Amino acid sequence: MAPSMVTEVASPHLPPHVIGKIGFNGVSFAYPTALSNPVVQGLELQIEAGTVVGIAGATGCGKSTLIKLLLRFYDPQVGSILLDGVPINQWSIRSLRQSIALVSQDVYLFHGTIYENIAYGLPHATPDQVEAAARCAAFHDVVCQFERGYQTIVGERGIRLSGGQRQRLSIARAVLKNAPILVFDEATSSVDTETEEAIQRQFAMVTKGKTAIVIAHRLSTIRHADRIVVLNNGRVTEDGSHMSLLRLGGTYARLWSTQVGHQG
Ligand SMILES: Nc1ncnc2c1ncn2[C@@H]1O[C@H](COP(=O)(O)OP(=O)(O)O)[C@@H](O)[C@H]1O
Ligand SMILES: [Mg+2]
Repeated sequence: MAPSMVTEVASPHLPPHVIGKIGFNGVSFAYPTALSNPVVQGLELQIEAGTVVGIAGATGCGKSTLIKLLLRFYDPQVGSILLDGVPINQWSIRSLRQSIALVSQDVYLFHGTIYENIAYGLPHATPDQVEAAARCAAFHDVVCQFERGYQTIVGERGIRLSGGQRQRLSIARAVLKNAPILVFDEATSSVDTETEEAIQRQFAMVTKGKTAIVIAHRLSTIRHADRIVVLNNGRVTEDGSHMSLLRLGGTYARLWSTQVGHQG
């Protein structure tokens, strides 16, 4: 990550626990290197704790940027982002980021065993916890195919995992972290649909009692979300359940019929 663009407040908000309610209130943002090109414009988005929200929208519409703002890799120029009703710039950066488990497009693996790489999410995890997390991510069977199992070395000079295998390791790591907020940013874009279905079957269990934001190009990934939000030009243009967005007949419905056909 580039040098931090954000500063820590002097006496941060330190709650005993995080509930997971998120609010984007009138948020506008342009990257410092491209100030004349706002990526997010007056965005309003309230996410209730414990709900699963899918985010859809064309490539480049600002989905990943929203997540970078939520994690405070950047601060918006206008508006505020709240976690549990408190502006995130009042939280310590550490407690903010600890309350969010992110599975992103680029998976960071360090040189070490698969076990260590999964346990990065929870350093004192037991072997049973690591294996349970790997099963949730449809990764356990992959690991078992390696001669050295969880002791297989990955990362530089280690064995090369495929894109889909890296994503599954990263999901296992996030599951193990057990944070109140889970963010999946194209987390299953490189796995085949069969593996994705296997992960989906565990999804309800993994997200139970948590707030989850799921960004997916493949709309079948988010169709069962409590709510789906469509972004366009940095604004929310559609917001509702899969069925209600199909009935609306807008961008989502159009994308759905191109991707899946008409068996809605
Ligand atoms: N670090 C950056 N600096 C400048 N522009 C960026 C940066 N990251 C992304 N962008 C631009 O911001 C816009 C939104 O990007 P992004 O949030 O990654 O979109 P999405 O995830 O929806 O595909 C794009 O036009 C992209 O080129
Ligand atoms: Mg993205």
